[in-house]
Amino acid sequence: MRNVKKEIAELLAAQVESLTAEDIEKLIEIPADPKMGDYAFPCFRLAKVMRKAPQMIAADIAKSIEGNTLFEKVEQVNAYVNMFIDKQEFARLTLGAVCEQGGAYGNTEGGKGKTAIVEYSSPNIAKPFHIGHIRSTVIGASIAKLYEATGWNVVRLNHLGDYGTQFGKMIVAYRKWGNKEDVEKEPIKTLLSYYVKFHEEAEKDPSLEDEARETFTKLELGAPEETELWQWFRSESLKEFSRVYDMLDIHFDSYNGESFYSDKMPAVLDELKAKGLLQESQGAQIVDLEPYGMTPALITKSDGSSLYITRDLAAAFYRKKTYHFDKCIYVVASQQNLHFQQWFKILELMGYEWAKDCVHVPFGLVSLEEGTMSTRSGRVVFLEDVLKAAVEKTREIIEEKGVNTDNMEETAKTVGIGAVIFQELSNYRIKDYVFSWDKVLNFDGETGPYVQYTHARAASVLRNAGAEGRKFDVSGMDLSYICGDAGYELVKLLYRLPEVVADAADKYEPSVVTRHIVDIAQAYNKFYHDERILVDDEAEKNAKLLLTYAAKQAIANGLALLMMKAPEKM
Ligand code: ARG
Repeated sequence: MRNVKKEIAELLAAQVESLTAEDIEKLIEIPADPKMGDYAFPCFRLAKVMRKAPQMIAADIAKSIEGNTLFEKVEQVNAYVNMFIDKQEFARLTLGAVCEQGGAYGNTEGGKGKTAIVEYSSPNIAKPFHIGHIRSTVIGASIAKLYEATGWNVVRLNHLGDYGTQFGKMIVAYRKWGNKEDVEKEPIKTLLSYYVKFHEEAEKDPSLEDEARETFTKLELGAPEETELWQWFRSESLKEFSRVYDMLDIHFDSYNGESFYSDKMPAVLDELKAKGLLQESQGAQIVDLEPYGMTPALITKSDGSSLYITRDLAAAFYRKKTYHFDKCIYVVASQQNLHFQQWFKILELMGYEWAKDCVHVPFGLVSLEEGTMSTRSGRVVFLEDVLKAAVEKTREIIEEKGVNTDNMEETAKTVGIGAVIFQELSNYRIKDYVFSWDKVLNFDGETGPYVQYTHARAASVLRNAGAEGRKFDVSGMDLSYICGDAGYELVKLLYRLPEVVADAADKYEPSVVTRHIVDIAQAYNKFYHDERILVDDEAEKNAKLLLTYAAKQAIANGLALLMMKAPEKM
């Protein structure tokens, strides 16, 4: 798509010898007051080189570019060249790009030829997949989409927490109090109850802890009975997780979790040792990070068992070798900031320059209006239950509203689950937030239902005009009809979609897209209320339908980046 700022920079570069188009692009401003134009170029810096007053330079430049079709007018005000873009020309290039690119509008190619790994979700098996997990899951999935939209080749990884001493506890508890049928019926809730019971009983009888430790060691050594039980816990848990992933329409290329790296850790230890980075401390092996202002990283415990950080190192080497990534993105809660800082530093100390390509993308906490959760006490809210409740509540609301839909079940799912995702991706990821039903399901606020409803509204306008599925084309259209205030506001927002998507990817911040599509939806609704679309005049009607189509397409493309569907009826 044409880039207006770049085009202006090139035009100006032809007038200004001392600066390149790239320099000029950086100097061009977007004035806060639209009376000063859509773009402005300050000439102060040129005065010295050109030995002329900046006002005069601005006047000369203004004169030399004013004839270009891109501009409606060009003015010199003091040291500035103020440029007013020709609205129809701008609408033509914007809507032309939407018509041409359709579902790909918003995509760019900055990442072409490069590979990004996005690691997200990564729950712990045999533990509840609770409301807190929505954050990594949904933010990560959206970042993966944003990277694809900016041209990257993306690999989606789920680093399952399927390894650790808790499996010793789980096995002991299952053997003592467990029951196969119960686990099969409701794996995680049942396993969780064993885990809770283990902690209760261990308070009274601490020898249980020793038993759990021994059992875990057996598991680590590959004892067949323990391994079989562990594998069964893992596959039952994954079945449950997959149900939630399907509901969210979120998928992975690999579920290689922590256990996958257990046989790859000795090599890491050897290398750390060979590079002189390991130190002994009270029987444990550590890497001293004090010179970098961090606490020491524990690599192996005094009993020789390996740790979380060691598995992350092993995983990073494996991924580099397997996928040759240019970037490896870890979408993990901010509580783990220190963990990532530590092991990124270790990679660097080991001499791997690609340590800089490993990026931790942290996020804040989600809490519930009702209060906090705790796995050990069993006080948790399952994500699956939240999603089901969202679908249920949505069904009630749309039945009450008498919503127009061919498939109530499908619409309730699309809107209900979409609403939860949208709320999640509306917040700056780093902020803590409180999950609120009222906010999630409000059809009028800045919510998922509101944006989807606007999409359905645009679809219904096209349907009523008999223009459903029409292949729109800007050529021969009289765009003066959509360059009034409301129409042009919308055009400007549509133009910015590709920039916004690229910016969101750069910042690992899906909320940038979420907010922009709320803006587009609001602008379309304003246009819809301010103007009559289905008028008798064919030229006017067609221009307005074109804008309706473009708004609809942009909303659908934006929603897809948030893993959301865009309903035709609602
Ligand atoms: N399973 C971990 C947890 O639930 C998250 C894993 C994060 N990823 C990583 N490579 N350390 O806290």
